[in-house]
Amino acid sequence: MGTKERILVTGGAGFIGSHTVVQLLKEGFKVSVLDNLDNAVEEALDRVRQLVGPQLSNNLDFHLIICLDWREILGMRTIWRNCFLRANAVIHFAGLKAVGESVANPMRYFDNNLVGSINLYKVMAKYNCKKLVFSSSATVYGQPDKIPCVEDFELKAMNPYGRTKLFLEEIARDLQKADQKWRIILLRYFNPVGAHESGMLGEDPKGIPNNLMPYITQVAVGRLPELNVYGHDYPTPDGSAIRDYIHVMDLADGHVVALEKLLQSNGIGCVAYNLGTGRGTSVLEMVAAFERASGKKLPIKLCPRRPGDATAVYASTDKAEKELGWKAKYGIDEMCRDQWKWASQNPWGYKSKP
Ligand code: NAD
Ligand code: UFG
Repeated sequence: MGTKERILVTGGAGFIGSHTVVQLLKEGFKVSVLDNLDNAVEEALDRVRQLVGPQLSNNLDFHLIICLDWREILGMRTIWRNCFLRANAVIHFAGLKAVGESVANPMRYFDNNLVGSINLYKVMAKYNCKKLVFSSSATVYGQPDKIPCVEDFELKAMNPYGRTKLFLEEIARDLQKADQKWRIILLRYFNPVGAHESGMLGEDPKGIPNNLMPYITQVAVGRLPELNVYGHDYPTPDGSAIRDYIHVMDLADGHVVALEKLLQSNGIGCVAYNLGTGRGTSVLEMVAAFERASGKKLPIKLCPRRPGDATAVYASTDKAEKELGWKAKYGIDEMCRDQWKWASQNPWGYKSKP
């Protein structure tokens, strides 16, 4: 396979970014990762290199950069400038994502996610690199009145993190309207879980995890004593809340097809796609699936609902299927299988036991 275009990946050392970089390299793209390692470690990219082998690793370069910091951009080093000059498109994962932290410290979120992204777009425009795939989120549907969530639903945000995603979607639409040279795909992820099937890459959150799957994982490996199940009185079959969990490798493949579409389609404008499976799974069903995959019994405690949580959220996947030709391949059993493989091989994530 010949080498394809160069793609600049912000946040490429993080959870979704690192899995996507593997798939991009395997597809023959050259990849420049920009990451400030705020929520990632360089070891993740070393593992990416091991996975793709020495030859494809030559197509990956990493730059430790607060890519979104204006001071850095003003004094941009030649090496970074070259990344933008040579890039055919940007996949923009970099951002902060903890809902609770965003409520406690909204300015950190507005500064990093909003101001940062605006600065990134200025640099992209300056170097005439106007093709963008942006990490949006199902959070832009807020507490949807109807399910499944369809891309043309009214958008709402429930917290500062959600507002950064909503505003950044609007900014992208305005940018593209004003300058038709921009081609932008907004990917609204539902609940990304799982890990690379090798067990070498996975999610490695700092501190106590906020999200269900990393929490379950840390209970299974003995780092946490029990899982709090938030809500057992929802109007759902087993009383726990329902989400659309998607395997991170399906998500990674979704980025590759979105990118191909972006590179090939003149006049694509600014368009949003849901990336989910279209199937809802309850918290208790997820716990049962993880128990099957790991062979471990997970201690749980039934707790009151978590404030701000929706009862049930899942995606309509028709638009991505029809326009991108993409459909998730994996179900929750494969998600739990790969999550467990990663966790059992790396119980302390990329670090060794402290
Ligand atoms: P992650 O924290 O693992 O990855 C984000 C990466 O961005 C990290 O490597 C971090 O170090 C880097 N980063 C943050 N701010 C930066 C900055 N100013 N400059 C350079 N690098 C910076 O998170 P993830 O789960 O891989 O999420 C990736 C993107 O997808 C985020 O934008 C997130 O909001 C979005 N998203 C995630 C989920 C989810 O549940 N994981 C769901 C929907 C959307
Ligand atoms: N849950 C528990 N116990 C936990 C953690 C979560 O019972 O320890 C429950 C939650 O109450 C919720 C479900 O598991 O009912 C899923 O919770 P997550 O925190 O894993 O995911 P959310 O759907 O709340 O939100 C996540 C991200 C958002 C993003 C959204 C959609 O945190 O930023 O997925 O992509 F917008």
